[in-house]
Amino acid sequence: MKIAENFLIVPLFFCLLTFSNALTSSRIGVVYGTQGTNFPPINYTVQLLEIKNAGFVKLRDANHEILKSLSQKSVRVSISIANNFLVHIASNQTFANQWVQENVLAYYPDTMIRFILVGQEVLSQNDTTLWYNLVPAMRRILGSVRSHNIHNIKVGTPLAMDILESTFPPSSGTFRSDIPHDQVIIPLLQFLNQTKSYFFLNVFPYFTWSANPTNVSLDLALFRGDKNSSYRDPESGLIYTNLLDQMLDSVLFASQKLGLDHVALAISETGWPHAGDIDQPGANRYNAATYNRNLVHRMSAKPPIGTPARPGVFIPTFIYALFDEDQIPGRGTARHFGILRANSWPVYDLDLTGKLGEGDYPPLPLPSNNEPFKGNLWCVVASEANIMELVPQLESVCSLGNGICDALSPGNDCYEPVTIRAHASYAFSSYWVKFRSRGAACHFNGLAVLTTTDPSHGSCKFPSVYF
Ligand SMILES: *[C@@H]1O[C@H](CO)[C@@H](O)[C@H](O)[C@H]1NC(C)=O
Ligand SMILES: *[C@@H]1O[C@H](CO)[C@@H](O)[C@H](O)[C@H]1NC(C)=O
Ligand SMILES: *[C@@H]1O[C@H](CO)[C@@H](O)[C@H](O)[C@H]1NC(C)=O
Ligand SMILES: *[C@@H]1O[C@H](CO)[C@@H](O)[C@H](O)[C@H]1NC(C)=O
Ligand SMILES: *[C@@H]1O[C@H](CO)[C@@H](O)[C@H](O)[C@H]1NC(C)=O
Ligand SMILES: *[C@@H]1O[C@H](CO)[C@@H](O)[C@H](O)[C@H]1NC(C)=O
Repeated sequence: MKIAENFLIVPLFFCLLTFSNALTSSRIGVVYGTQGTNFPPINYTVQLLEIKNAGFVKLRDANHEILKSLSQKSVRVSISIANNFLVHIASNQTFANQWVQENVLAYYPDTMIRFILVGQEVLSQNDTTLWYNLVPAMRRILGSVRSHNIHNIKVGTPLAMDILESTFPPSSGTFRSDIPHDQVIIPLLQFLNQTKSYFFLNVFPYFTWSANPTNVSLDLALFRGDKNSSYRDPESGLIYTNLLDQMLDSVLFASQKLGLDHVALAISETGWPHAGDIDQPGANRYNAATYNRNLVHRMSAKPPIGTPARPGVFIPTFIYALFDEDQIPGRGTARHFGILRANSWPVYDLDLTGKLGEGDYPPLPLPSNNEPFKGNLWCVVASEANIMELVPQLESVCSLGNGICDALSPGNDCYEPVTIRAHASYAFSSYWVKFRSRGAACHFNGLAVLTTTDPSHGSCKFPSVYF
């Protein structure tokens, strides 16, 4: 296989140089997502995980080919169950047993499965039936695993920070009031406590900082806080030198308010994007490397550091993500969290054993986009976009009505030039400006890109967003 050969020669050599003396296996995990194209073969990726000394790998599903490839390897594994299985599993032990048979027993113990994560950010979903089925599904999966006398697999569920309605100051942490505490949150916390599992969080200081870069300190977000930039929680008196600790502790305080303050935390996903859209500040290689290096160093410390509210406690941590994934929709950062590009070339060096500190790495170019973008942006057709793919996109955007494509009708200001490319650029800008506040991205399957150059011509004025 030609592709496999190309992958093998160059990047493996590169990684060996950096990681050959890292003998102890790390405790840090990475998320191996597969929502992209041009990835290396699975067996090669598994070899990369070993060379990089990943302690754990988290799969977003239970991909059989990957599980098979991880057999007899030193990397421990976390597998996931999709939300659309929850109701079925919660109501049917036979189905739960079958899932465990096909996705766990078929590979365990040769593949060192250690976590089964049930659902994906279930309490962030609008479908509230999922909420009520979450703990019952977790019970059935664990029951099935235990019935085979397996005791080194924990069952958890990854939740997003939007389960809290207040996170700041950390001591004000409270779970959202629309999620029934007695029927959903308390049973979950009790299950995790009784089964000695973890409260898994997907926690991204990047999004907290980038939503409010003027008031949130970038130094705190990147673990570069010192005494001067630290934050003292006025209620608890605890001193914070980084944003991640603040976010984690807000969950501990929320649990404490429900009388359940023993649950152990784990981080099912965290990371920092190395690139993004023009209007997404702070997404650059320098910050991404700084965040992940400091994170790994901190989370690998022995004895463990813990957080101000729970010092000295080890927090299992997964970095999101191993690869950039180019098929993830949404804004630019979503496709640029990888520590490796899809071709497996490192975006920046990262020692997963945590032995290297920030200062031990060669310097990276300083960032130029840490300040929020100021100016106008338009959303136009990307230079490499394929005309055949543009046609259906243009049609689907214009079929939304809402005046998006009115200027493109014959006789109107943007009818000329009558080309797919010109019309699609207008339609993309028009759509993006209209729906941006509701979360629309300038992406269109990779056919669109933001620009600071006004594409307007003659009497045809393209809509734009002013930042
Ligand atoms: C991966 O599998 C392919 C096909 O089975 C094989 O040719 C190749 O040598 C394997 N590569 C590695 C790194 O094990
Ligand atoms: C429970 O799951 C099993 C296995 O998939 C299936 O054969 C059975 O029909 C299910 N029972 C119900 C009541 O849905
Ligand atoms: C969830 O509900 C909110 C508010 O009603 C809505 O804006 C959002 O689009 C919904 N999300 C999904 C995935 O249905
Ligand atoms: C569970 O909670 C009890 C107190 O409610 C605590 O003593 C115990 O250590 C907790 N166990 C775990 C594994 O968290
Ligand atoms: C930033 O903080 C100032 C002072 O506390 C406050 O007035 C302002 O609304 C905050 N800005 C944002 C975007 O939260
Ligand atoms: C803290 O701030 C003081 C006064 O602004 C300054 O003199 C000192 O060097 C700072 N210390 C650090 C560690 O940055």
